[in-house]
Amino acid sequence: MDPFKQKPKSLFIHGPIIVGAGPSGIAVAACLSEQGVPSLILERSDCIASLWQNRTYDRLKLHLPKHFCELPLMSFPQDFPMYPTKHQFISYMESYADQFGIRPRFNQTVVTAEFDPSSEIWNVKTLDGFQYSSPWLVVATGENAEPVIPKIHGMEHFHGPVVHTCDYKSGSQYKNKKVLVIGCGNSGMEVSLDLCRHNALPHLVARNTVHMLPRDIFGFSTFGVAMTLNKWLPLKLVDKFLLLVSSFFLGNTNHYGIKRPKTGPIELKLATGKTPVLDVGQIAQIKSGNIKVMEGVKEITRNGAKFMDGQEKEFEAIILATGYKSNVPSWLKGSDFFTKDGMPKTPFPHGWKGEQGLYTVGFTRRGLHGTYFDAIKISEDITSQWKTVKSKSCSDSHIINLISTTTLNNV
Ligand SMILES: Cc1cc2nc3c(=O)[nH]c(=O)nc-3n(C[C@H](O)[C@H](O)[C@H](O)COP(=O)(O)OP(=O)(O)OC[C@H]3O[C@@H](n4cnc5c(N)ncnc54)[C@H](O)[C@@H]3O)c2cc1C
Ligand SMILES: *[C@@H]1O[C@H](CO)[C@@H](O)[C@H](O)[C@H]1NC(C)=O
Ligand SMILES: *[C@@H]1O[C@H](CO)[C@@H](O)[C@H](O)[C@H]1NC(C)=O
Repeated sequence: MDPFKQKPKSLFIHGPIIVGAGPSGIAVAACLSEQGVPSLILERSDCIASLWQNRTYDRLKLHLPKHFCELPLMSFPQDFPMYPTKHQFISYMESYADQFGIRPRFNQTVVTAEFDPSSEIWNVKTLDGFQYSSPWLVVATGENAEPVIPKIHGMEHFHGPVVHTCDYKSGSQYKNKKVLVIGCGNSGMEVSLDLCRHNALPHLVARNTVHMLPRDIFGFSTFGVAMTLNKWLPLKLVDKFLLLVSSFFLGNTNHYGIKRPKTGPIELKLATGKTPVLDVGQIAQIKSGNIKVMEGVKEITRNGAKFMDGQEKEFEAIILATGYKSNVPSWLKGSDFFTKDGMPKTPFPHGWKGEQGLYTVGFTRRGLHGTYFDAIKISEDITSQWKTVKSKSCSDSHIINLISTTTLNNV
């Protein structure tokens, strides 16, 4: 009898449960499938890579050169440029999922996952009251699961739209409008540039310090050059080199209101996750005054904003480029593997494995390059255990051997 016909509220998964169908989740599923290990991906959205498909702006390109952004087992097509567009990256991930027969179960928001020590099993519950169980749980919900919305005094009284960058697609609707962009990381800088290109008038709030680096040095990716140098030189020296080329190519960014942190760019990235901003034209727009850099916002008024330096300006829209956060603490229960910010307590390269069959992929602060290494290690580790468990449990009639997730999707 087909167990799925009864609309079961609970399923034992013979193979790991992976939460999240972003690049990290599908990379783990692919590496496992290559070893003959089935897995089930639970995804809250209705497609793979929903961050890329639904929460990024139209003109986005990969920030890092393509060979740092590939997933295991499958290269980018030969004709991809050095910095693929988001559309190219999405099409790559779709062929990737096809290639390895990955069919996540969509519209499945995980609300709790808890380890039961008596049965040594993870019980994973979704919003619609379903429960999935497995000895292995792979956390792949990402460092960017939820937008961070800051509390700024007076924001609720603002007359115009207030939009987080996750809902920003293009500057076309902001033509000739004065727009306040809050946050000067990669998103804030790139949205400001996109606004300029659509003849809007962006004001960028740069309250925090940030490292701006040229994206390329004489045709070579700055990131790639830094990675190569780092093989031979101490980190501090590589950082010194990066600061030198930055001042050569970009000038002293402090003069334009973009204050540099005291700690070097790579050291800072590794310690705090704060990514340097790679210049793809922003500095030129800042120098020419098309992007106006402002100090911190004191308060938002009905018609605009008051700034720390006493200025007051009118705006027609506000864009919050205030970043993202992990959501793991909201659903993973009874585990002290993660910090309250939802990042593994153990730093890279050891943060991929927790206790009792818990794994994490994509929490390395190293983007897709970190995912690549996590996914391979996780699949090797689970594969070796799975083979022993499988030989034990073949005779157990209660266990549903989940080879085909298509059947499951038709429940
Ligand atoms: C604008 C932007 C540009 C970027 N550019 C680059 C780049 O050039 N290079 C690079 O290496 N990195 C880049 N990154 C970082 C990027 O986030 C990661 O590289 C990549 O998307 C991480 O993949 P992931 O699978 O770990 O997380 P995500 O892509 O965020 O996928 C996580 C998935 O989990 C799902 N999920 C979350 N919570 C739940 C839940 N409770 N239940 C079920 N499902 C859930 C989400 O819907 C999502 O589909 C960029 C990020 C942004 C925002
Ligand atoms: C995300 O975008 C994809 C591709 O355009 C679309 O198929 C999907 O329905 C969208 N999902 C949401 C939740 O908007
Ligand atoms: C998704 O799940 C929710 C409940 O969790 C349900 O209300 C909704 O109809 C589902 N949507 C689709 C498209 O299946």
